[in-house]
Amino acid sequence: MRRSNPERAHCSRVVAASLALIAAVVVLAASAIVFFGCRGRESRNRDKVVIGLSIATDTFIIERWNKDIKIFTGAARDRGADVIVQLSAGGTKEQIAQIDFLLARGIDVLVVIPHDSEMLSGIVRKARDAKVPVIAYDRLVMGTPIDAYVSFDNHEVGRLMAKALRAAVPRGRYLIVNGSKRDNNSYIVREGLWEVLGPAIARKEISIVDEIWLDEWSSDEALMRIGAVLDRTTNIDAISCANDQIAGAAVQLLSEYRLAGKVAVVGQDADISACQKIVEGTQLMTVYKPLARLAERAADIAVSVALGNVPPPDLTVDNGSGTPIPYYVEPPYAVTRDNIDELVIRDGFHSAEDVYRNAADR
Ligand code: GAL
Repeated sequence: MRRSNPERAHCSRVVAASLALIAAVVVLAASAIVFFGCRGRESRNRDKVVIGLSIATDTFIIERWNKDIKIFTGAARDRGADVIVQLSAGGTKEQIAQIDFLLARGIDVLVVIPHDSEMLSGIVRKARDAKVPVIAYDRLVMGTPIDAYVSFDNHEVGRLMAKALRAAVPRGRYLIVNGSKRDNNSYIVREGLWEVLGPAIARKEISIVDEIWLDEWSSDEALMRIGAVLDRTTNIDAISCANDQIAGAAVQLLSEYRLAGKVAVVGQDADISACQKIVEGTQLMTVYKPLARLAERAADIAVSVALGNVPPPDLTVDNGSGTPIPYYVEPPYAVTRDNIDELVIRDGFHSAEDVYRNAADR
């Protein structure tokens, strides 16, 4: 039965109102889905690039990283970007949770310093599937494609260490202390080291007393492991340490045997305590890596990649993913007592006052 006019008019008003209501509900629902749907992942359509910086465990206590973080966040801000920093106090599991948190915060690009180079491929794939490009900072992420790798020439780091030892101890007994087994840099630095030491070993000019691999970049572990070797023999002429923290442990132990300054010790990072030991004569050399150059370049690349432009790389590197990774490389420098002023102090990396604090003379 068709309805009467007033009825019909009333009906059509009701129909119109309910259609409007339905339309309003549909619009509301749609925007709620957009809003709440992204609630899991905060929206990314902002005009400012947001960089997520995930930093590994062992870096807490190691001097250089505080500088990296400070310079990187400052440089990113100078380029108009915001940085959300996640510093974990736990291992890889914690770092994965960190990155999940950063993704949920809707970052535009992820910059990561891996605790374990092999263990992040799952979460990195998740980020890239969510269209968040991933940049490895200083330490390479292995096993899955990433968008960029920004680091120093870690082969050259190893070569510089070996050359300094060879010059100071052309013939003798060497102890090698490599870095954390979890850090891809430890293997690259070692390759550079052996490139120089290998021929000298073959010519029997030098011999290797022992070679240590650390589980973590930890001075406590280094004290224990190097201590065990020195308990066995102190007939050692040179110690190659993968970073200055380890070199500090070696010099501490050598001083207990009254051998500090008599055994050639090299390290990496130009930590203040290492620079002081170099001018005091208990450490031979360290590898200086101008962190400002690395951090500023990484900030540049992070902002460009977030905006969709991958700058032309210096090289590509194989991270075991089958995809060549764009590699942006900065050079390291060998620092000894002879050039510490012009390299480390003139660069403003440390003040002369701090470096020469305990030195008898300058
Ligand atoms: C390496 C880094 C070194 C050193 C070490 C310990 O990956 O290249 O500079 O500091 O980590 O944190």
